[in-house]
Amino acid sequence: MINIAVCGANGRMGQEVIKAVNAQDDMCVVARIDINNGEFATIKDAIDSVNVDMLIDFTQPDSIYENALFCLSNNINIIIGTTGLKDQQIDELKSLAEKNKLGCIIAPNFSTGAVLMMKFAQIAAKYFNNAEIIELHHNQKKDAPSGTAVKTAALMAEVNENFTSGNCNESESIDGARGAVTYNNIHIHSVRMPGFMASQEVIFGSSGQTLRIKHDSTDRECYMPGVLLAVRYIDKNKNFVYGLDNIL
Ligand SMILES: NC(=O)c1ccc[n+]([C@@H]2O[C@H](COP(=O)([O-])OP(=O)(O)OC[C@H]3O[C@@H](n4cnc5c(N)ncnc54)[C@H](O)[C@@H]3O)[C@@H](O)[C@H]2O)c1
Repeated sequence: MINIAVCGANGRMGQEVIKAVNAQDDMCVVARIDINNGEFATIKDAIDSVNVDMLIDFTQPDSIYENALFCLSNNINIIIGTTGLKDQQIDELKSLAEKNKLGCIIAPNFSTGAVLMMKFAQIAAKYFNNAEIIELHHNQKKDAPSGTAVKTAALMAEVNENFTSGNCNESESIDGARGAVTYNNIHIHSVRMPGFMASQEVIFGSSGQTLRIKHDSTDRECYMPGVLLAVRYIDKNKNFVYGLDNIL
């Protein structure tokens, strides 16, 4: 039996993870951690009381780096769904996991459809030099752009160094009008709105054609097969993984 602590247990994702884990035969939730009315308020309180094999974190961008440092310094494998980690923090967590021979999976998106959308965008990126990403989320989301959008841009930038979004002489009469500029000049636009859950569209263009690759998450259940896959992977492999695509 794999003993799992869920951090962010009372949140939207945390509650869904608890349901999914407890419905399996080979794993169970042994600690529900949440600063807001959790069974345990901190990870330390939980591991002082129960035997934890791995922790699944769906908290918030402000907490995740400290939570992950704590786990990887205290012999706890960790699966990170929380978004908002910076590249440098991800590199530091990778080094720490490798040094301490612990499992650590960071997946900006656990839904298989979104992983495929990223893959398809990477394939298309070889053939188009103009691309922009629009991501749309519910208005409770704290970080922008989404981890999925940043990861998509990183994958696209791996295969094409020549993105030339927009006009080289363009200027913004209102700051931010052209979105955030990330890897290799790929622009990301973030929409936050009640009514949305999580959607992303990657738009490619060249003379006389556009290609749009779009994914919509309509229920948080879509993330659960990916989370369970990560649990079983970490149970067997104690290494560092960034992106669900690497374990599918
Ligand atoms: N990787 C993915 O596939 C995926 C999918 C959906 C959401 N997310 C990300 O997961 C995170 C959580 O999303 P949500 O919609 O469940 O948010 P939420 O606000 O509903 O839940 C977060 C919970 O974490 C708790 N929390 C915050 N800081 C904490 C800490 N330091 N220790 C313990 N508990 C803490 C809060 O009290 C809250 O109950 C966000 O970063 C979101 O972007 C990732």
